[in-house]
Amino acid sequence: MSNYTHIFQGTAFSSNSLKELHILENHLFCINAEGMIEKVVAPADEDYDTLLSMYEGKENFHRLAKGQYFLPGFVDLHVHAPQWAQSGTALDIPLFDWLNTYTFPIESKFSDLSFAKMVYEDVVSTLLANGTTTALYFATVHKEASILLAEICAKKGQRGLVGKVVMDDPEQTPTYYRDADTKTALVDTEEFILAVKELAKSVKQGVYPVVTPRFIPSCTSEGLQGLGELAAKYDTYIQSHCSESDWAHQYVQERYGKNDAFALHDFGLLREKSVMAHCNFLDDADADLFAQTGTAISHCPISNAYFANSVIPLAHFHAKGVEIGLGSDISGGFSPSLFDNIRQAVMSSRMLEDGVNPALPANERGVPNARITVNEAFYFATAGGGESLSLPIGRLAENYTWDVQVIDTTIPSARLPIYEANEPLHDIFQKMMYLARPENIREVWVQGEKVHSR
Ligand code: GUN
Ligand code: FE
Repeated sequence: MSNYTHIFQGTAFSSNSLKELHILENHLFCINAEGMIEKVVAPADEDYDTLLSMYEGKENFHRLAKGQYFLPGFVDLHVHAPQWAQSGTALDIPLFDWLNTYTFPIESKFSDLSFAKMVYEDVVSTLLANGTTTALYFATVHKEASILLAEICAKKGQRGLVGKVVMDDPEQTPTYYRDADTKTALVDTEEFILAVKELAKSVKQGVYPVVTPRFIPSCTSEGLQGLGELAAKYDTYIQSHCSESDWAHQYVQERYGKNDAFALHDFGLLREKSVMAHCNFLDDADADLFAQTGTAISHCPISNAYFANSVIPLAHFHAKGVEIGLGSDISGGFSPSLFDNIRQAVMSSRMLEDGVNPALPANERGVPNARITVNEAFYFATAGGGESLSLPIGRLAENYTWDVQVIDTTIPSARLPIYEANEPLHDIFQKMMYLARPENIREVWVQGEKVHSR
């Protein structure tokens, strides 16, 4: 029998598929030196008792206490790390004004590495404390500060996918916050990719460079073309904003005579490793293109309530075969918690299905079959995020990473309303989804290493 680095015993919840929640009651999870789940053992399996007798009482044996459960760590597919500095503010104006009045000024301050260090240390720790074990980050246009963000993820044990943002169109960006010119933007991006690839050689949980045109309106065609070529040359991830709001969507139609999806594709920016934020205004041909190219949608339900002028028809896009994960979109979304975004994803979808204008008759008010369930939202926050990134993360199953959050439902300041001894585990799961707070997240592990405890 293998020599495991850790063995964990407890009840876990993991998504098998969009519809099917897998409940692993009182299982053993055997973790190897690489931080992978090498074996999952059910109480009925023949080696369960043998393993228990071998490991019980040892330092590397961990049994959950009563009222504690394992969940997979969350995969946040869209975070603006610098915007943590303004989270919760300025959400009462449209996207274009919010970017120009608040967001570009705050992001421009990240030329100062000591300011960047302060905010980036805090946002990475905060996300870990909220159960986010993998995050896909936008940094800023500044190469050094973007490398610093990747280093901070590496040091704190989070799996970070980090992009130096490109904004090279002087017509669309302010003088105080843009790349010096297109050539510099591309050279800086290439140097950034190489620096993060070098860093990654010594990082157990992985850090990855991401080619990051902010969105079409802030980039030149030459810049977008060059970024597509760099992504192909280095086989990197790609992220951007796509068809987010009426304004952004219409801007691209006017400039290129097509939707964001096809415009991005023309520049080589839709690939298996592409993740596009928002995507509310994709039409069916755009969604088919996403499915064909393996491009994923990062659904940001809290942010969308402020800036997207609509609710995304998520169930429809999923049925078309598009990969989908959840994003906080800090600070378009004010919350660093994917629990909060799971809740909002469900609520927004219900409002899309039922409609929101009581002056209309019920049969004209909404979009049929638009709702998603809490199981489905949990899937998007975990397994769906992992599939979007093509990484073995987001599930508690063999050959996946040991990325988990230990939820304690009995914390005195945040006790969940569980009174009956034999409450069905599926009900306990739903209570965790709707009521868990950061206090309930007792421990967080990434790739077999403990990275947070309280
Ligand atoms: N579009 C371009 N930049 C941004 C951003 O920072 N946040 C959001 N929500 N949309 C954007
Ligand atoms: Fe965003």
